[in-house]
Amino acid sequence: MSESAKLTLSGKEVELPLVKGTENEVGIDISKLRGQTGAITLDNGFGNTGSCSSAITYLDGEKGILRYRGYPIEQLCEHSNFLEASYLSIYGELPTLPQYKDWERNITHHTMIREDIKKYWDAWPHTAHPMATLSSVVSALSTFYEDSGDPWDPREVEIAIHRLIAKMPTIAAYAYKKSVGQPKVYPQNKLGYAANFLNMMFSMPTEDYEIDPIVEKALDQLFILHLDHEQNCSTSTVRIVGSSHANLFASVAAGVCALWGPLHGGANQQVLEMLEAIHAAGGNVDQFVARAKDKKDNFRLYGFGHRVYKNFDPRARIIKKTADQVLERLGVNDPLLEIAKKLEEVALSDPYFIERKLYPNVDFYSGILYKAMGFPTKFFTVLFAIGRLPGWIAHWKEMIESPATKIGRPRQIYTGATERPFVPISQR
Ligand code: SDX
Repeated sequence: MSESAKLTLSGKEVELPLVKGTENEVGIDISKLRGQTGAITLDNGFGNTGSCSSAITYLDGEKGILRYRGYPIEQLCEHSNFLEASYLSIYGELPTLPQYKDWERNITHHTMIREDIKKYWDAWPHTAHPMATLSSVVSALSTFYEDSGDPWDPREVEIAIHRLIAKMPTIAAYAYKKSVGQPKVYPQNKLGYAANFLNMMFSMPTEDYEIDPIVEKALDQLFILHLDHEQNCSTSTVRIVGSSHANLFASVAAGVCALWGPLHGGANQQVLEMLEAIHAAGGNVDQFVARAKDKKDNFRLYGFGHRVYKNFDPRARIIKKTADQVLERLGVNDPLLEIAKKLEEVALSDPYFIERKLYPNVDFYSGILYKAMGFPTKFFTVLFAIGRLPGWIAHWKEMIESPATKIGRPRQIYTGATERPFVPISQR
């Protein structure tokens, strides 16, 4: 393959260098295009535009491949755990045992939040959406922990990383306890990451709480599967906010807000609500499939389709299998799971979905698992955020440490009014 692409514009030919990735992806470097031609490119939604080079995650949408730092997610789900996979994503290598023990101890040590932060929940209504409270508290961490806000001090960045990974489950659990009017439960340092979160969420001062190892393992696996997904909407948000040299807490809070959208992480909540609506309507999936195909109806089949995957989302495959296993082991017979399978079967045999390569994505089955574990629907996207956090951190760190990073500032094609003189209000 030649080392450059040629572009002819208004009779002038320019050469644009090619960039090749380790998986042989090819990018056309247009960083000098405007200077050479006066023209910019336009790509709504950036479906054809790379914002950066990255060594963190590789995915192949056609082949349904997803790897964190070269390790297939299937192997990480089988042999690793969320904290180890988080270390891998952020630092680039699987930890040695001493490194892992250090990492685990540092995170466990930071699971509590300052007592005065709890006062936020006194002000918020019990109906507050937990993604709103999560983004608020995460942003505020930069004021409560001022000794970990400097993006240029590696030690401060390291403490900020520990604090964020440690405190996200605590913040999420406190939001849940407020929503159900129960006392907040402190973290327990003797428990593992997923077990500690389950205990803070569901234990009560009135009785012993038994952590189900099946639920603990399934939740840890779900966190691994949500950990990173290269330049998705929320991760790109974290990178662009961080490119202004905003601190890690502020950048992650912005990522939480981007993830909340129903087209992105908020889809897992929408999927459950969609399945419940189908169930309430008698379980007839055909009318919902028809609505999803009707251009006049803005209803979409949530949990279907993906900007990159034009094949089955590999995460959806794993989650579907785990959902089957966990619901059976828990003795949960959820009609929504049967409806989801029926919906998948109908959609995948329908030309509309086949032509557009719309397959179940990560959000399609995850909600059924979360529901079986006892999480309320409104908290599903918070679970996505806990899983995605190490990915956001890894990308922010890669961005801030890269000498190639510039402040994110896209151009535009202006389509508004051309110059015109001001008209006094008396003459309008
Ligand atoms: C996540 O980017 C990531 O990596 C995201 C994520 C991650 O890990 O970070 O994987 C997590 O966000 C998964 C996606 C969760 N969202 C949903 O499930 C919401 C429902 N899906 C869509 O809205 C949609 O598929 C997107 C947003 C996910 C992707 O949209 P695209 O790639 O921009 O595709 P599009 O909107 O241009 O749609 C192409 C065609 C359109 O029809 P035509 O105009 O060609 O006739 O497909 C149709 C769309 O109307 N379409 C759907 C549909 N998704 C796309 N029609 C019905 N139901 C759907 N779900």
